[in-house]
Amino acid sequence: MLRSPLRRAYRVRPWQSPAAAALAVLRLSTAAEASPIRKSPPARVRNLIGGEFVESQSEESIDVINPATQEVVSRVPLTTKEEFKAAVDAAKGAFPQWRNTPVTTRQRVMFKLQELIRRDMDKLALNITTEQGKTLKDAQGDVFRGLEVVEHACGMATLQMGEYVTNVSHGIDTYSIREPLGVCAGICPFNFPAMIPLWMFPMAVTCGNTFILKPSEKDPGASMMLAELALEAGLPNGVLNIVHGTNDTVNNICDDDDIKAISFVGSNTAGMHIYARAAAKGKRVQSNMGAKNHAVVLPDASVDATLNCLVAAGFGAAGQRCMALSTTVFVGDSKPWEDELVERAKSLKVSAGVEPGTDLGPVISKQAKDRICRLIQSGIESGARVVLDGRNIGVPGYEDGNFVGPTILADVTSDMECYKEEIFGPVLLLMKAESLDEAIKVVNSNKYGNGASIFTTSGVSARRFQSEIEAGQVGINVPIPVPLPFFSFTGSKASFAGDLNFYGKAGVQFYTQIKTVTQHWKDSSSSQGVSLAMPTSQKS
Ligand SMILES: *[C@@H]1O[C@H](CO)[C@@H](O)[C@H](O)[C@H]1NC(C)=O
Ligand SMILES: *[C@@H]1O[C@H](CO)[C@@H](O)[C@H](O)[C@H]1NC(C)=O
Ligand SMILES: *[C@@H]1O[C@H](CO)[C@@H](O)[C@H](O)[C@H]1NC(C)=O
Repeated sequence: MLRSPLRRAYRVRPWQSPAAAALAVLRLSTAAEASPIRKSPPARVRNLIGGEFVESQSEESIDVINPATQEVVSRVPLTTKEEFKAAVDAAKGAFPQWRNTPVTTRQRVMFKLQELIRRDMDKLALNITTEQGKTLKDAQGDVFRGLEVVEHACGMATLQMGEYVTNVSHGIDTYSIREPLGVCAGICPFNFPAMIPLWMFPMAVTCGNTFILKPSEKDPGASMMLAELALEAGLPNGVLNIVHGTNDTVNNICDDDDIKAISFVGSNTAGMHIYARAAAKGKRVQSNMGAKNHAVVLPDASVDATLNCLVAAGFGAAGQRCMALSTTVFVGDSKPWEDELVERAKSLKVSAGVEPGTDLGPVISKQAKDRICRLIQSGIESGARVVLDGRNIGVPGYEDGNFVGPTILADVTSDMECYKEEIFGPVLLLMKAESLDEAIKVVNSNKYGNGASIFTTSGVSARRFQSEIEAGQVGINVPIPVPLPFFSFTGSKASFAGDLNFYGKAGVQFYTQIKTVTQHWKDSSSSQGVSLAMPTSQKS
């Protein structure tokens, strides 16, 4: 009587790893012992279809787990094919009216949305911390960086303006207009549950498109809350829809003929799969993927400021961001830097994101932690020197959390697996180079191109770095900044597939089709007869 609902809630699922299965069993037994009262399973998040939050009919769900405690905080259904189709139909049905809604009206919905996001900032942040693990302060930043894109979308009328040339020939004008595409879709990663959905749907819908959003199955809560706010702000039914799931839902998005464009942020495996599969269907794709960002530190860099940047960018968000500076290349002697780095990294507080003063929260899952630890170990086995080891960190009160403390590996070389793979954890790799030239060579040999930074007091060196480095985003005495929304997120090489970047001017181009119109209003008195010659602007 007690066991059956629990068993259903914590059923071992075919895609769970043995470790996760063991954990599920553990949860079952502790839950059964701790409380004689039947505990109902956590609620499932819903689909959003045509303005209604509807329970999925799917039998299957994935547990959303608090990474600091392993508590199941909610469940995500695997949206069925029929529900997916209904969401696309709703988006398709809402498009004709929404595209013809004046841009000023669409902007006003964004004005209202930014106000509501500010109102609910704390709630959003707490939901993110609970589901994703990052600190409350980081979670606020996650929401805030997304909010800036909403603010940017408020100026869409100007951004979406076309161009006009009068008298391209006698009495003939040509002008271009940017029209929305139709139904667009976004597929989101786990690391920024608010910012990345907000990179996508506000720009897309303010351009006049309708949207299908698939949040990460690991932390869908922020997307659901943002969608509620968008409806409250006046977004008409069907303009924004939400579906859930993993590979099948992703493939449905790639294959559906009614979806015109896909925005993706996540791993290279998934990103290249989506890029290829959706492009084969003739869709536009913008795919932001993995990274291995380098900091190059010259001997003349200002010590204190540089160390602070390296620690913040190496370990912030527990290294789970594609803008982390995960590798530092010291030009010249690295030893004095090393000791200081270790001191500062050691002083960081690792705990649950809700605990005051926490610098690093847990990583997203047990599997993620195992992978990070495996990559650290492989580095050590291939000759890297571990100067700080965070693998066995204990966090009082959160013994079950997926914590990895700040870890620093020195003497890393570019043939090591820990260097070739994106670790996506709080691990900083230290390398050495004889000269700036050699350091630039190391960075440019890496397949990724999200970003690179240089720390120096020499303008000459900085300028050389800026022009010779093959990375899409460059920092000079700053860690790689996520550009503000009036620029675009411009990762390059293997970090990006597609040709129109997220947000900024490129984002508007991505979500619109350009139409060029040539017009001629003839005076009825001036007939010139038929000419079959190729038209030119030359006076004949
Ligand atoms: C455009 O061309 C027509 C015909 O050649 C001419 O009459 C008119 O003045 C031109 N208008 C402008 C704005 O240049
Ligand atoms: C986060 O918000 C979603 C949507 O409202 C909700 O389903 C989920 O339970 C929330 N999660 C937490 C941990 O509060
Ligand atoms: C799901 O997609 C991922 C790539 O994102 C792939 O590694 C994995 O093998 C796929 N799983 C199944 C069951 O097809």
